[in-house]
Order: sequence, then C-alpha cells, then structure tokens
Amino acid sequence: MSRLASGVVLVTAQEPPLDPDDPGAPRGEDVGMTATAFMSVSLDPPLVLIGLREGSRMDDLLDEQPVWAVSVLSGSQRHIAGRFAMKGRVSDRLLFADVPHRRGEVSGAPLVGGALATLECRTEQRVPAGDHTLVIGRVLTATAPNTDDGPLTYFRGRYRHLD
Ligand SMILES: Cc1cc2nc3c(=O)[nH]c(=O)nc-3n(C[C@H](O)[C@H](O)[C@H](O)COP(=O)(O)O)c2cc1C
Repeated sequence: MSRLASGVVLVTAQEPPLDPDDPGAPRGEDVGMTATAFMSVSLDPPLVLIGLREGSRMDDLLDEQPVWAVSVLSGSQRHIAGRFAMKGRVSDRLLFADVPHRRGEVSGAPLVGGALATLECRTEQRVPAGDHTLVIGRVLTATAPNTDDGPLTYFRGRYRHLD
C-alpha cells in the first residue's frame, strides 16, 4: 500500500466540555490527527470515510463526539502533517497555537487556513475492521477556497509535493 499515492488530511474534533450541562464550562481540547485513509463514499447523500487506528486518541474521541472535520492539506502544509502524526503527545493545544485556523460552524472543530478544502461531518456509521475503525460521515459543510497551491501527497513513506 505504500505504493498507492494518497492525499493527506488533518482530521480534527473537539473534546466534549468536562461538564456538558454547564454552558459556562471551558471548551474541550481541540484534537488533530494526520491521515491518508480518507475517501469519498457517496454523492447522494454526501458521505466520506476515514479509517482510524483502534485505540488511537481520535478513534476514542469520535466514539463519543459525532461531529468532526477534515482539512485537505496543501503542499506547503507538510509541517502540519508532521506534527499531528507524532505518537504519544500529551496535548494538542500547543500544536494548534501557530496553525492558522477557524472553527467550523457545525462541529466547532478547527478548520486549517490555507487548506485545499475543508469538510465538516457527522458520523453515520462506525464499522470495526481489524485493528481500525472505519468511520463513515455525512458531509454537513464543505469549502474549497481559491488557491493555486498543489496537494500534499504521501508515497513510499515520504511526503511529496505534487507540482
Ligand atoms: C502520512 C501519515 C498518514 C497516516 N494516516 C493515518 C490514517 O489514515 N489513520 C490513522 O489512524 N492513523 C494514521 N496515521 C497515524 C496517526 O497520524 C498517528 O498515529 C497519530 O497522530 C498518533 O496519535 P495516537 O498516539 O493516538 O496514535 C498516519 C500517519 C502518517 C505520518
């Protein structure tokens, strides 16, 4: 599979607040994960799929958080992919600090500025598959900002910039 070239996305979601019944409670932490196992599934209704390693932080989070977001990274965003693929990091708060982003109107999740496209999704189905969970989401919002930048790709274990 390392010979299948793929685009690279950042999946993001917000941890639920510690006390969901208290509107003044601090927001949950933003979490991000670099992924290549992302694909389009259906046009009508609009469905996409993300494959998450079972037991990863994002898999655990999306088990309880039904809304999430995807930013399709551009060739100049390799550093973002790198930092959100690190294992065992303690907190994502600092990692987002210098990544320009806005909050999705539906998910509240970070949408990366300068991304080639952004989507917000609501989970429709979770399918356990071996050591991964396939999360199928309905697309709730989509943007494709005007940019000339090419995609960030991953091939044979290396990030590549498609010119
Ligand atoms: C290029 C690349 C693509 C990746 N694609 C996925 C993926 O599709 N699904 C996944 O679960 N992890 C994927 N990973 C691994 C996660 O990014 C990484 O395990 C995670 O951020 C670390 O969090 P964890 O400690 O909770 O596993 C990928 C890593 C890299 C470098």
